[in-house]
Amino acid sequence: MASIIVVGGFFGDEGKGKIISYLAQKDKPAIVVRGGAGPNAGHTIQDDSKKYKVRMLPSGFLNKEAKLMIGPGVVINPDVLHKEIAEFDVAKRTFIDFNCGIIEKTHTEADSAGRLREKIGSTGSGTGPANADRAMRTLRLAKEIDSLKPYLADVTGEVNLALEHDRTVLVEGTQGTFLSLWHGTYPFVTSKDVTASGICADIGIGPKNVDDVMVVFKSYVTRVGEGLLENELDAKEVVRRGWSEVGTVTGRQRRAAEFDFKLAKRAIMLNSATQIGLTKLDVLFPDCAHKNSFEALSDQAKSFITKIEDATDVPVTLIGTGAGVNDIIDLR
Ligand code: IMP
Ligand code: MG
Repeated sequence: MASIIVVGGFFGDEGKGKIISYLAQKDKPAIVVRGGAGPNAGHTIQDDSKKYKVRMLPSGFLNKEAKLMIGPGVVINPDVLHKEIAEFDVAKRTFIDFNCGIIEKTHTEADSAGRLREKIGSTGSGTGPANADRAMRTLRLAKEIDSLKPYLADVTGEVNLALEHDRTVLVEGTQGTFLSLWHGTYPFVTSKDVTASGICADIGIGPKNVDDVMVVFKSYVTRVGEGLLENELDAKEVVRRGWSEVGTVTGRQRRAAEFDFKLAKRAIMLNSATQIGLTKLDVLFPDCAHKNSFEALSDQAKSFITKIEDATDVPVTLIGTGAGVNDIIDLR
């Protein structure tokens, strides 16, 4: 059995998409399966020639052999899903669980105006209102939707069967630890628990069936929407440092701060992390761009990594050095 779960360590947008697409190609999983909230997530993936953005499908789709699955805890917007399936030509290997909840027009409308949008800064994707209806037991499920018939499967059963047969399963989380409904900066959080345990529950993977938990941190912290961001830099300083980013789903400017060691430590605890994936090292240290070995990094970059390992007591095993899927240092 080899299951690895990848989750965000800060407020989402840590670069999980890139880490997952690398692991999907390198580790050759039989299944890449998504837990997490819904199409409020936006993952950006880049291969040699092209940039891809996904909101519903697992970010591991660049591996053409892997089955792509979505667990029953994830709410689906069928329009977004159909569009991505067509765009990436993955109809034959996409499987969504019978019991995934369905986002309808009423949900996106409720999410695009009023308190959720204005106070919380929600993504407007309908994810929160759909999860509220799920809690009220009124939400429709995927098995009731005709257009989803070709993709319906017992994802929970398939994933557990694969694990029983020692196949590799790559489990993909969305958002980040401090956007968790239980463990985040409530009320400025998403509508689910998005720590490793929550992601496993979304799919139906029991707590003893996880081999590795990789928490992904970006080399600095960003946050979209409202809520506390300690030591937040002013917008001009963010631009000056070259840390300026725009949200994948919302197009909003992300707020930013320096790497937060205290927050990182807590994320390690909440997720029982065994490994750390560190992204965008090249943004912090431009001389590290596109490097593929630890030795090739500058002393400053090396000591930054050592400082993270010392503070968290967890090894940094993957280091992103550029946007491309192979701009990575693999120390596993
Ligand atoms: P909601 O999940 O759309 O309800 O948004 C709640 C909060 O979580 C807002 O501050 C969003 O900006 C944030 N959020 C939701 N999903 C993501 C994500 O994938 N990345 C970063 N922030 C997110
Ligand atoms: Mg994102």
